[in-house]
Amino acid sequence: MNILLIGSGGREHALAVQLKKSPRVAELYCAPGNPGIGGIAGLVNIAADDIAGLRDFARQNKIDLTVVGPEVPLTLGIVDEFEAAGLKIFGPSKAAARLEGSKEFAKKIMKKYKIPTAAYEVFDDAQKALEYVYMSRFPVVIKADGLASGKGVTVAGSLVEARRAINAALKDRIFGEAGARVIIEEFLAGEEASMLAFCDGQNFVPMVSAQDHKAVYDGDKGPNTGGMGAYSPAPVVTAEILEQVNSSIFRPLLNGIAQEGAPYRGVLYAGLMITADGPKVVEFNCRFGDPETQVVLPRLKTDIVDVFEACLAGHLDALAVEWTDAAAACVVLAADGYPGKYEKGQEITGVDKAAALPDIFIFQAGTALLDGRLVAAGGRVLGVTALGADIKTAVKNSYKAAELISFPGLHKRKDIGQKALARLK
Ligand code: AMP
Ligand code: GLY
Repeated sequence: MNILLIGSGGREHALAVQLKKSPRVAELYCAPGNPGIGGIAGLVNIAADDIAGLRDFARQNKIDLTVVGPEVPLTLGIVDEFEAAGLKIFGPSKAAARLEGSKEFAKKIMKKYKIPTAAYEVFDDAQKALEYVYMSRFPVVIKADGLASGKGVTVAGSLVEARRAINAALKDRIFGEAGARVIIEEFLAGEEASMLAFCDGQNFVPMVSAQDHKAVYDGDKGPNTGGMGAYSPAPVVTAEILEQVNSSIFRPLLNGIAQEGAPYRGVLYAGLMITADGPKVVEFNCRFGDPETQVVLPRLKTDIVDVFEACLAGHLDALAVEWTDAAAACVVLAADGYPGKYEKGQEITGVDKAAALPDIFIFQAGTALLDGRLVAAGGRVLGVTALGADIKTAVKNSYKAAELISFPGLHKRKDIGQKALARLK
């Protein structure tokens, strides 16, 4: 089969590695990709949101299956466009992708189908939002309704912070139209975990659990990023919690959204807070998570093309999806300043040496080639994933490999996996 993968981050590099492993894949292309992906796939210079361009490429190059990484093309309706052109594509329709594209839509569905989540209200008027906050218990959580690259959420501990977040979104429009409405919701206390599931419209298969590290600094300090590291499995997701996630979140969500006329096919990402009352949904994403994918997919034993095809055919119930017992940890190497302003163009050294270690994957994210040298070209530059017999070993190996890589202004968290290790003790 000929496959087109869309996207350019660490998630897509992890997907490319799995696709490349499949004996069923003849040609693998990635648009636009990055230098790391370019080592195993043909890079196509078309932007991830140029839907007409991607569709024409798929037609002209006899692509049998397209796999979409990022949320933007999904929320723009790339799946509907490809299907209308008779092309096979893995991902949710535009209507189903609203689960990520509009937090208000996601909240309404959860309310209607009784899926556990934080209580909330929606505002488009700053004054009314502020009045609501005056009456609320702190901390309160303020979220832009639309897509904001993981940066549209403020957990406000004080009225001053809450006012700043509300004004930034509704008055200053720092998120543009994505922040024209805000959700103000109850703060959920607990430990976070990410559960992703393959979905075929009706059936779902949960992937192995993972935990992200969203804050930029150790100890979950500083602003939220797209994710500074991850590990899998997440010990906070016990067998009992997993059963609750399946029965009180994935099952009713898939039934509910199908009832709304938008059956969900693709990867559904549930960002969870494991509270004293059980798992509650913090957010849904309509795609693989990043960096979660960098620890989840290296554990997948089943041919990923078989999984995608079963999802498209509605036969997921007939496929046994298998995982290794190994644990995985990923340390993200970021550019100093991210998620704010950061430099680009710094030369990266040591990638080959680190990649040569056993059970290590160096997933490239924000990288570019400049005169044949690998340079930083984004906030999250590389993901260093290690497999190990247990989380402790995986974390140790991941840091050992990460130590071999350097570039000016490299920033990494030093406490990836610490919550898991504390829990396991
Ligand atoms: P989101 O983009 O909705 O996943 O939010 C980003 C991050 O903000 C989450 O990963 C949590 O750390 C935090 N957060 C969001 N909503 C809540 C909530 N209701 N209670 C506590 N923390 C939250
Ligand atoms: N790691 C969080 C996300 O993919 O949205």
